Amino acid sequence: MVAFNLPLNSRIGQGKTFPAAPGAKNVREFKIYRWNPDDGANPRTDTYQIDLDACGPMVLDALIKIKNEVDPTLTFRRSCREGICGSCAMNIDGGNTLACLKPIEDCKGAVKISPLPHMPVVKDLVPDLSQVYAQYRSIEPWLQADSPAPPDGERRQSKEERAQIDGLWECILCFCCSTSCPSYWWNGDRYLGPAVLLQAYRWIADTRDEATGQRLDALEDPFKLYRCHTIMNCTDSCPKGLNPAKAIAEIKKLIVERAG
Ligand code: SF4
Ligand code: SF4
Ligand code: FES
Repeated sequence: MVAFNLPLNSRIGQGKTFPAAPGAKNVREFKIYRWNPDDGANPRTDTYQIDLDACGPMVLDALIKIKNEVDPTLTFRRSCREGICGSCAMNIDGGNTLACLKPIEDCKGAVKISPLPHMPVVKDLVPDLSQVYAQYRSIEPWLQADSPAPPDGERRQSKEERAQIDGLWECILCFCCSTSCPSYWWNGDRYLGPAVLLQAYRWIADTRDEATGQRLDALEDPFKLYRCHTIMNCTDSCPKGLNPAKAIAEIKKLIVERAG
């Protein structure tokens, strides 16, 4: 009989526990995935006991406190700390989200934190986004127009035309959606995934862009687009409240319409 065991180096072991400061009364445990490519060891979960009375309200506040005061080796990305840059995306309490927008009090019990799922890990909570950035580059995410711009250089839109990219321009490329999509987990090398497809639709829906035909040609592919099976995990996980599944459905609809 075939045994389906995980390779030894993918097993996550029990790591160290860092106790709370003496006298702390409002203590919460943070269980954090750790992996260092340089030490040759398996990944582990370290436990940090944090006094919430001496910590900001968000999960990112706790991570920064741990790094500053308890364990400077903990590695994660962050920049804006207000849901704009997308760099603090990670899996918290079982769901992909932004650490800076996730209140600690919304987590049940010990706060479990791991990198975005199904991505190679660079270190600790830092995923390797090389593939998904290359896919983003492949959709040519910039305005393309051959017609000459008006004399003042501004390609203006009416309010109604501008409204057509609402729900799209707000995407911060955090990839919470793509890394929660089962189709992207299994076919991420060829399926573009919800984040990149939402971005593709952002340019298709922009009335100033004149490359719609070429953009649809590039997407009409059994893997790049049609691996989406409308499972909706993507929309459920978007911390900005966007709907990548709908954007994907709109692309499919346009491809059907132009064929008819
Ligand atoms: S709707 Fe499509 S993109 Fe979104 S999770 Fe499902 S398969 Fe993935
Ligand atoms: S659609 Fe939402 S979850 Fe996906 S990359 Fe954009 S902001 Fe992040
Ligand atoms: S730190 Fe920028 S989105 Fe969280």
